[in-house]
Amino acid sequence: MRRSTTIGLLAFAAVAVTGAAWAQSSPSARRAVDADTVAGSPARGGDFARRECAGCHTVRGDSVSPKAGAPRFQEIAQRYADNRLDWELETITQVGHYSMPAKAMSKADIDDVTAYIRSLKPER
Ligand code: HEC
Repeated sequence: MRRSTTIGLLAFAAVAVTGAAWAQSSPSARRAVDADTVAGSPARGGDFARRECAGCHTVRGDSVSPKAGAPRFQEIAQRYADNRLDWELETITQVGHYSMPAKAMSKADIDDVTAYIRSLKPER
């Protein structure tokens, strides 16, 4: 009787420890910002960008953006090389970015545009 309780407690402790180890490892796994960790499609993101963003931003190449002050997507790629661009885009859907008005994007759009912008990043 007593013995089985002890075994039960040990099993519970083992599960708890494993769970804690998993919980600790996952944030660092999620911190990675490489294009490979982004689920979106660069091709779909490019279509979306040409449709929804190109009125203000240069979305490909290095010509001057149609809207003064809107950074070229190439520049955004560089600026966010080591930061979570998808989080920035999510904020933009709600509050915009300084002089940029908020822009509705679904989670899938955000993933696609992120993948597209990451694809513009020059080789390092
Ligand atoms: C109405 C014009 C307009 C449209 C449309 C627009 N933007 Fe912008 N965007 C701007 C301007 C202007 C800025 C610069 C804002 C600032 O920093 O003052 C900007 C800034 C940004 C930034 C911030 C860059 C940084 O420095 O952090 C991102 C990212 C961005 N835009 C993404 C997008 C995406 C993606 C789309 C299309 C879904 C889009 N924008 C559509 C005008 C626009």
